[in-house]
Order: sequence, then C-alpha cells, then structure tokens
Amino acid sequence: MDNFSFWSPTYFAFGKDSENRAGELAARFGGSRVLVHFGGSSARRSGLLDRVEKSLADAGIYYAELGGVQPNPRSGLVYEGIELCKSDNIDFILAVGGGSVIDSAKAIAAGALYDGDFWDFYDGKHVERALPVGTVLTIAAAGSEGSPDSVITKEEGMLKRGTGSDALRPKFSILDPALTQTLPPYQTAAGITDIMAHLYERYLTNTKDVEVTDRLIEALLLTMKHEGPRVIADPDNYEARANIMWAGMMAHNNSCGVGRSQDWSSHNIEHELSALYDCAHGAGLAVTMPAVFKYVMSHDVMRFAKVAVRVWGCQMDFDHPEVTALEGIEAFRSFLISLGMPKNFEELGAREEDIPKLVETLCRVNNSDGCVHGFTTLNEDDCTKIYQMMV
Ligand code: NZQ
Ligand code: ZN
Repeated sequence: MDNFSFWSPTYFAFGKDSENRAGELAARFGGSRVLVHFGGSSARRSGLLDRVEKSLADAGIYYAELGGVQPNPRSGLVYEGIELCKSDNIDFILAVGGGSVIDSAKAIAAGALYDGDFWDFYDGKHVERALPVGTVLTIAAAGSEGSPDSVITKEEGMLKRGTGSDALRPKFSILDPALTQTLPPYQTAAGITDIMAHLYERYLTNTKDVEVTDRLIEALLLTMKHEGPRVIADPDNYEARANIMWAGMMAHNNSCGVGRSQDWSSHNIEHELSALYDCAHGAGLAVTMPAVFKYVMSHDVMRFAKVAVRVWGCQMDFDHPEVTALEGIEAFRSFLISLGMPKNFEELGAREEDIPKLVETLCRVNNSDGCVHGFTTLNEDDCTKIYQMMV
C-alpha cells in the first residue's frame, strides 16, 4: 500500500426529511448570506426548493437564488454566480441538486475568492481557498457531495475539465434518499453506472497488496448489483435508494481509493463524449467502460478475473484467466444494458465520423503530452481504437 493522507471533513445528514436541516447546518458552518444554487426544474417542481428556503428563513439566514444549471454544467453560469457572490456579499453556497449543480457551486465558490479567471483552476492551477459549500443531493451518481472535485465545461471549444482540492469538499451534505424517487429511470440508471465507474476506476490499480480497499470496492459493487435492478423495478423503494445513495458517496470520497494508484482513463475518454454530445455522463460511461476494459485487460488479466469471480460470480478458469476476465466484463456490460443504459455509439447519440475530433481534444488539448494515463498509458492510436470499439 502507498503512503497517503486523507482528509474528508464533510458532515453528512442522512435520511427522510433531512433537507429541513439546511438552515441549521448552513448557520453551523458559517453561512449568513447564502446563495441557493439549483438546476433546471426538478427541485422547484418537487417543492424541495421551497422547503430548503423555508429552513434557511427559519434560521434567520438571508438567501439569494441562482438556478438554471444544466447537466454537464457550463462556465457561463459560473461567471454569473461569481459576480453575484461578489456583489451580494455571499458567504456560503448551498447547492440543491445533482453533481452538475454541486460542481457549478464549487466552481463559483473558488472563483468568488479569486481575482483572476476561475477557469485557471481547470487549467492546472490549484484551488487554495473557496467559499464554504453545502449540498442537498437529489441524485445518487457523481459523488460530488463528498468529493474534492468539480467538473465544468467551457463553452468556448466545449472543453470539459475537472479540478480537485480539499478546499472544495462540502462542509455538509444532506442526503435524503426519498428525494431521488422522482428521478426518471434513465437518470437513476446513469447514476448507478457512474457510481460503479468510480469503483472500477479505483479497482484498476497497479499497486500491490491493497486488500482492504479491494474488498471495500467489491462490497460496494455487489451492493449496486443487488440494488440496481430493485430500484429500476420499483422506483419508490426507499431502502434500495438509501443503499445506493450512501454507496455513491463512499464510492467517490476516496475512502476506497487511498494508498493505491487509480485509473480514470474511462472517465477521461467519456468526458469527450458528454462534452460533444451533451449525453448523461453515466450513459457515456456505460458505452466507454467495456471497450476500455477489453482494451487494457491484458495489462493485468488476474485483476479483471478477480472482480469477475468476486463480484460477477464467474467461475475461475485457471488455465485461461483471460476467459474469466472477459466473462466478467461481459457480465458488467449486460448488467448496465439491463438497467436501460446504451450499449454503443448509436444508442448514445455519438457519431463514428467524430472520432478524430474526440481523439484530438482528448489527447492534444486536454492531455498535453498526447496520452491518457492510468492503469496503462493510452496514446492517440489506442484511444482511436477504443472509440472504434464503441461503434
Ligand atoms: O436540472 P434538473 O431539472 O434538476 O434535472 C436534473 C438533470 O436533468 C435531473 N435530476 C436531478 N435530480 C433529480 C432530477 N430529476 C428528477 N428528480 C430528481 N430528484 O437529473 C439530470 C442530471 O443531473 P446531473 O446533476 O447532471 O447528474 P449527475 O449527478 O450525474 O452529475 C453529472 C455531472 O457530474 C460530473 C459529470 O461529468 C457531469 O458533469 N462528475 C462530477 C464528479 C465530481 N464532482 O466528483 C465526478 C464524476 O465522475 C463526474 O465526472
Ligand atoms: Zn463519474
């Protein structure tokens, strides 16, 4: 196991009606002038926004609103939010929504205390300080409620990039699984896929002897395998929603990733798809992961065979471990398709003729040394072949 430091200070309020604690928690973590940041229409329609704002008002907290975050959040609204924070002396940002809203809130939080262009942080500069952020999560997926990360798309060139800093970890996150019951099935499935991707990206490691994190990841993958079909069959199943919601947090606050190298090539390759086609990140991952896994499998076939046996129930073929490894990848792919996820470019809305453009942005613009680094190093030729496998 590698040396590591791990600092995860987020306070979690989990369970039914916990959104009514928004005011109390914002006050506890220093908020007196709060920007309530939210997405398109779901939080307003469900009445969640009213309940959260009442809770703030009951706690004697001033609040301003900034809605309109779109999935794959854009830089334009971030600039607007930064101006609003500065002109209205905002001292706390409360994100009410999914990963897109939370990531936009984190970007605003960093930009509000910075004199330059906030995009510098998505261009390699480290975030040293940011306004405090709290979240009321409405979809189990990105894990941004417990992560130090934020992913934003710059309209100019449609560049989708991430930044990470402990300064961006939320001060508190409110997780009420009942809030996720209004999700369309496709979004629920995309969220499940993203959670499983966050687990696989950590499972694909080159660090030896990391049994404790291997076992944690396997447990969470098994949980998703069990709860995924239950929640798709019965969207009102609170217990399944609760297990998925907490698994989503644990999958990405890095408690399963400490002390080991991680992959993230599927995420890098997928981000070009959601940037260009505006597809759901999880749906893009459903198409990307099986292709990447098959392409890199030979790098450590036993690792793929291990997850095949321990999670997907495959029989170990000791003479041909690559057969077991492949069975595990196919089982995972079939599982995602059974949840309603797309299986290829066409179903995702992607186009084969765009592959050169995808590869160029991936390898030349977003990764300046021309390669995607992770479990293995993938050059332009490798990435082209991987995208072709998704067609
Ligand atoms: O905008 P509204 O109307 O709220 O609709 C949203 C949106 O259309 C809807 N929705 C959310 N909660 C709902 C709901 N609809 C009904 N009922 C509810 N309770 O769902 C749609 C998707 O929301 P979004 O926030 O985009 O989903 P998600 O949480 O999957 O976030 C995706 C973004 O997170 C990034 C992705 O790249 C993508 O941009 N990621 C962020 C990470 C992080 N910060 O750590 C890591 C991830 O790997 C990921 O890259
Ligand atoms: Zn993800």
